[in-house]
Order: sequence, then C-alpha cells, then structure tokens
Amino acid sequence: MTAEPNPPNTNAAAKLQTALITGASGGIGYELAKLFARDHTDLVLVARSAEKLAQVAQELHGNFACTVKTIALDLCDSPAQSFCSISCSTKESLWTI
Ligand SMILES: NC(=O)c1ccc[n+]([C@@H]2O[C@H](COP(=O)([O-])OP(=O)(O)OC[C@H]3O[C@@H](n4cnc5c(N)ncnc54)[C@H](OP(=O)(O)O)[C@@H]3O)[C@@H](O)[C@H]2O)c1
Repeated sequence: MTAEPNPPNTNAAAKLQTALITGASGGIGYELAKLFARDHTDLVLVARSAEKLAQVAQELHGNFACTVKTIALDLCDSPAQSFCSISCSTKESLWTI
C-alpha cells in the first residue's frame, strides 16, 4: 500500500485561520500556498503580478474552497510600514497585517 506523501494536516490545534504568503504566485511560495489551501486555511497572497496572483487565487479557491485575497505589491519598492498597514478582509473578520 502506498501512503500519500504529504497527507493533509489533521491537527486542529496547528491549523491557521489565515496565512499570509509572499512570493505566492510561483516557486516555493506557490507550493506553500497549495499546502495551506489543502488544509483549508484561508490565504492572503502577495506578489508583483496581479494577473498571476488572480490565476493562483482562482485555482486554489476552485480546488480547495478556501478564501483567497491577493495583494499585488513589489516588496522591494514598498516600505515595510506601508505593507504592514494594508488591511485585508477575511470571511470572518477584518484585520490588519
Ligand atoms: N528555489 C530554491 O531552491 C531556493 C533555495 C533557497 C532559498 N530560496 C529563496 O527563496 C525565495 C523564493 O525562491 P523561489 O525559487 O520560490 O523563487 P521564484 O520562483 O522566483 O518565486 C518568486 C515569487 O516571488 C514573487 N516575487 C519576486 N519578486 C518580488 C517582489 N519584489 N515583490 C513581491 N513579490 C515578488 C514572484 O511573483 P512576481 O514575479 O509576480 O512578483 C513569485 O511569486 C527566493 O528569495 C530564493 O532566493 C530559494
């Protein structure tokens, strides 16, 4: 019998309500976003290309029914302070990151 290589996280205490992932439209960030989405964690995804983010958001919402917000932002250009003041609404609350 072959075990699933990366089974979903079933530890309720370890589950996050919302995860903020930078560089989420490609590479490591995208793979992380899929893992969190599979565990039914809502997502806030950050990268520069709004188009790529929209594609990823549509894919993850469609496959895993999680809430996905996107922020198109160049993290090299933006001061950390303005990034930290971005408000993101989730399905359950409005919060500031
Ligand atoms: N791959 C590896 O084996 C490895 C190993 C050790 C460390 N790392 C480090 O881990 C990080 C990610 O690596 P990766 O291979 O996953 O890279 P990647 O495939 O190039 O992924 C980059 C992601 O970050 C976004 N991004 C790039 N520049 C950005 C910026 N200025 N502001 C906001 N978003 C930006 C890209 O989307 P947009 O282009 O739309 O912005 C994309 O979503 C890098 O810092 C890399 O040096 C990678």
